[in-house]
Amino acid sequence: MCGIVGAVGLEDCSETLLDSLKRLEYRGYDSSGVVTQDGDSFQMRRAVGKLKNLSQLMHESPLNGRSGLGHTRWATHGGVSERNAHPHIAGDKVVIVHNGIIENHSVLRAELEAEGHKFASETDSEVLAHLFLAAFNEGLSPRDAGVRVLSMIEGTFALAAMHIDHPDMMIVARNASPLAIGIGDGSGFVGSDAVALAHLTRNVIYLKDNDLAIVRPDGVEVFDIEGTPVNREVVIVAASQGMVDKGGYRHFMEKEIHEQPDAIAHTLAAMTDSQGLLATPIPRDELAAIDGIVMLAAGTSHYAAMVARYWIENLARVPVTCEIASEYRYRNPVTSAYSCAVAISQSGESLDTLMAMRHAGEAGLRTVGLVNVAGSTIAREADLVMPTRAGPEIGVASTKAFTAQLTALICFAAALAEAKGEITPERRDEIHRQIQKLPSLVGKSLGLFDEIRPVAHELTSARSALYLGRDVLFPVAMEGALKLKELSYIHAEGFASGEMKHGPIALIEEGLPVVALLAADEVMGKAASNLQEASARGARIILVTEERAAGTVDFADSVIKVPDVDPLLAPLLLSVPMQILAYLTAYEKGTDVDQPRNLAKSVTVE
Ligand code: G6P
Repeated sequence: MCGIVGAVGLEDCSETLLDSLKRLEYRGYDSSGVVTQDGDSFQMRRAVGKLKNLSQLMHESPLNGRSGLGHTRWATHGGVSERNAHPHIAGDKVVIVHNGIIENHSVLRAELEAEGHKFASETDSEVLAHLFLAAFNEGLSPRDAGVRVLSMIEGTFALAAMHIDHPDMMIVARNASPLAIGIGDGSGFVGSDAVALAHLTRNVIYLKDNDLAIVRPDGVEVFDIEGTPVNREVVIVAASQGMVDKGGYRHFMEKEIHEQPDAIAHTLAAMTDSQGLLATPIPRDELAAIDGIVMLAAGTSHYAAMVARYWIENLARVPVTCEIASEYRYRNPVTSAYSCAVAISQSGESLDTLMAMRHAGEAGLRTVGLVNVAGSTIAREADLVMPTRAGPEIGVASTKAFTAQLTALICFAAALAEAKGEITPERRDEIHRQIQKLPSLVGKSLGLFDEIRPVAHELTSARSALYLGRDVLFPVAMEGALKLKELSYIHAEGFASGEMKHGPIALIEEGLPVVALLAADEVMGKAASNLQEASARGARIILVTEERAAGTVDFADSVIKVPDVDPLLAPLLLSVPMQILAYLTAYEKGTDVDQPRNLAKSVTVE
């Protein structure tokens, strides 16, 4: 992950770099650093911990200079320490920042050390600084040095480098990791995404894999890996400037939970055609031709995919397989059974998901990107884009992006089912009407904070919790467990209720919290029996359910009720109290809600 930024041609670049880094802190936050070129030397400040530590350091000990680089880190190679924090300087002449992994770093490092290069960190990235140094020492131009370095490294990277003898110039390059170049008025910028540059410029160039660019105040030259000039389009981005604002809430996550009615309504609008009918960005004849779907995703997005499998198979009778993106790529999947791959990603940058989508595309599948960030790599590379319109999601734990994904996916399922003749246009329109109720139903569920607070209070003392759901609520249970563990560090697992008796029931002891999802659906009775089995063994049942289903489990220790909803949409509505439960538990435990330990929002390493 990690976020990189750079600027050339400013009066004083250090504050600008810090501002950009703040917009990228979601990418990693274990250490950070800024370097500027001040005359004939580099000045650097690095700090372990959150960006505020670096900010304070730079306040006490300011940096000067027109050009510089910055980095916020999520450690891969080398522990969290100041010396492993980026930027990395080699020979007082070259400085680099890097996001990604240089896979052949050990070999390169050994060669460089044999040539006399002295390394100061344990990172893979530092080899880049020394490779550039060696190339410049041979008298190569910035372009040729870039070509040389790219020819030697293997792995994934978004990098920016500066050389002391070439003031106001950055060499930037990417392969698989995201990178945006911003064109200013007499200035040039680089950032891991366009949002990092939104306060500086809206004119952005996205590099293709293995592109190399030289950024100067008066313009950008882009080259392919051989050093041949290539044209890359300048796009005008509409990145929101207001994204770093918590809007009066204590945390971004709390704000984002409250933004769900809007996120759902805006996503639904994107899935509605000019006649007001449910539609997808996929032409109807293409929809009708889909005979098998592989869904590719990671983390919370993967649970959205798993929910969608129930919907699509049930409504459209199209076989669906849900794949953890990092597994799909390397297990040599049989792709001929599917004609369409849907890559689901909030950020549009998760490397595993991107690579899995490429893999599917190379195997001949039509690729669809379900992404929240317009202009992201998956959005640019997919054959077709189905957008979620949740707006920027900053909290590391996904909330509004998840419910927006579910909104888009139920729309997709219904439109697909109608296009394939599995449901009538009237049934599709009825589903559409039910989806239109969601913003208001989710809005009502947001009133549950006070009711959930005492339940969260009890949960803070638990060491472990189980989440149970049956049928389409099984993946929702897994998502609920993920929310709790990632935010409050309480061990939590989601299981299919019916599977309990095949093993997990052995974990139940007196007082173990079991968060049970229940909807008024076909399996309600069976799910209730499974809860009875858990309760009989001492589990403390926290029932999360619709009003009308609550009476089915009269032995629950706590009951959290959402309004009644169409059974098809229960997974979406029941997700909301689970988000609130995880949020309030983490808040009460005093963990870092928006930036939990060891995590990052956008995972651009394998
Ligand atoms: C990280 C985040 C998760 C997210 C996952 C997939 O692990 O911490 O919240 O669900 O990446 O991210 P994506 O942007 O591809 O949906």
